[in-house]
Amino acid sequence: MDFADTKRKGTISGKIFMAAVVTTIFIFIFRQTPSSSTSNFFSHREAGVTHVLVTGGAGYIGSHAALRLLKDSYRVTIVDNLSRGNIGAVKVLQELFPEPGALQFIYADLGDPKAVNKIFSENAFDAVMHFAAVAYVGESTLEPLRYYHNITSNTLVVLEAMAKHNVKTLIYSSTCATYGEPKTMPITEETDQLPINPYGKAKKMAEDIILDFSKNSDMAVMILRYFNVIGSDPEGRLGEAPRPELREHGRISGACFDAARGIMPGLKVKGTDYKTADGTCVRDYIDVTDLVDAHVKALANAKPKKVGIYNVGTGKGRSVKEFVEACKKATGVSIKIDYLERRPGDYAEVYSDPSKIRRELNWTARYTDLHESLQIAWRWQKSHVNGYGTSRATA
Ligand SMILES: NC(=O)c1ccc[n+]([C@@H]2O[C@H](COP(=O)([O-])OP(=O)(O)OC[C@H]3O[C@@H](n4cnc5c(N)ncnc54)[C@H](O)[C@@H]3O)[C@@H](O)[C@H]2O)c1
Ligand SMILES: *[C@@H]1O[C@H](CO)[C@@H](O)[C@H](O)[C@H]1NC(C)=O
Ligand SMILES: *[C@@H]1O[C@H](CO)[C@@H](O)[C@H](O)[C@H]1NC(C)=O
Ligand SMILES: *[C@@H]1O[C@H](CO)[C@@H](O)[C@H](O)[C@H]1NC(C)=O
Repeated sequence: MDFADTKRKGTISGKIFMAAVVTTIFIFIFRQTPSSSTSNFFSHREAGVTHVLVTGGAGYIGSHAALRLLKDSYRVTIVDNLSRGNIGAVKVLQELFPEPGALQFIYADLGDPKAVNKIFSENAFDAVMHFAAVAYVGESTLEPLRYYHNITSNTLVVLEAMAKHNVKTLIYSSTCATYGEPKTMPITEETDQLPINPYGKAKKMAEDIILDFSKNSDMAVMILRYFNVIGSDPEGRLGEAPRPELREHGRISGACFDAARGIMPGLKVKGTDYKTADGTCVRDYIDVTDLVDAHVKALANAKPKKVGIYNVGTGKGRSVKEFVEACKKATGVSIKIDYLERRPGDYAEVYSDPSKIRRELNWTARYTDLHESLQIAWRWQKSHVNGYGTSRATA
């Protein structure tokens, strides 16, 4: 009995063992074939092909940058943990550029050094465009640690991986928030950086880390300080679709579109007694298509041992009132405007002097008509009522 039992168990476990071996072999064959042939494109350098790691490539600006890079025949790896971005944006890009070796998406958290290190050891990047971050001024005052962690600390993780794996070109997404509220306008790259909120401070710290590191290395660094980014792909393939829960911290274009769609009862303009021409805040609105063009020019002009720091703006300030008028015209909706008290932490007037980037990189803003930029963005908003969730057209 005992003997027979053991024997039967033996045969059963033997069969199970054989089945497991066969299954494993099959899984191994099926997984290896496609993945090794695609990963080769990304894991080896290829003459004439520049492989760019786009962190935060599922986000608003990163996805537009990836689209432009792919159109210009760069090889692109997107790393994003989808905490704020949209897998739908990645899908759009994958459908547009299905060729093997054009685009790969890696789901990973840049706050995880082991994961980042693995990505760098398995892929042969030529350059990094580091977009991934959290990026709402209001939220940064409520949750400062989230900002220092996901901006400053994560940039350090990316930089360490670049150093270890000999990736020598970095294009960094910085912001006019690093300047704070300077007394004189326009803001040049020489203007003192005195940020006044955790978002601006975290970005400034990340800049400092990058600059200090670059002094003793042969890295090519380009730091782009964007002003207020608006607009979307003129061909309507991508748009801006932040998480609904971020609405309260949202940017003015999103707020305007939400009001036009009737999701919000109206638009709140906070502060009408600033020392500006019409009393509302003045900002420099840069279209995402121009911004992405600045990145491509920065990448093309990046040189070892050199650091380039550039403002990316139009050089022209527009008031919130002007913006709202342009938005009303672009959407065709007569949005209800509520004029309220000032919001703490807002500065009256901010606009760039973009002459350095024009002089050195031959870049200038082309989409400088607010109405046109907003019309393009509104077209996407209207046909994507639930962001990337659905693409249902409405009237
Ligand atoms: N939108 C603007 O007006 C503006 C202005 C100046 C600077 N910037 C900078 O541009 C960059 C992109 O901003 P955006 O407006 O496209 O923001 P976004 O939130 O749309 O995109 C950021 C992306 O980074 C990803 N991400 C965040 N933390 C991550 C992590 N730990 N690991 C992996 N992925 C992570 C998010 O999932 C998201 O897809 C940011 O660095 C931001 O500070 C934006
Ligand atoms: C994304 O990354 C952050 C750290 O930056 C982490 O806290 C968060 O849990 C991650 N989210 C997802 C969905 O992985
Ligand atoms: C950012 O960092 C905090 C930890 O400080 C974490 O809780 C959060 O999930 C991180 N990620 C994002 C996208 O905010
Ligand atoms: C600068 O850009 C313009 C417009 O794209 C182009 O026509 C011109 O040839 C460029 N000049 C140089 C010196 O590259």
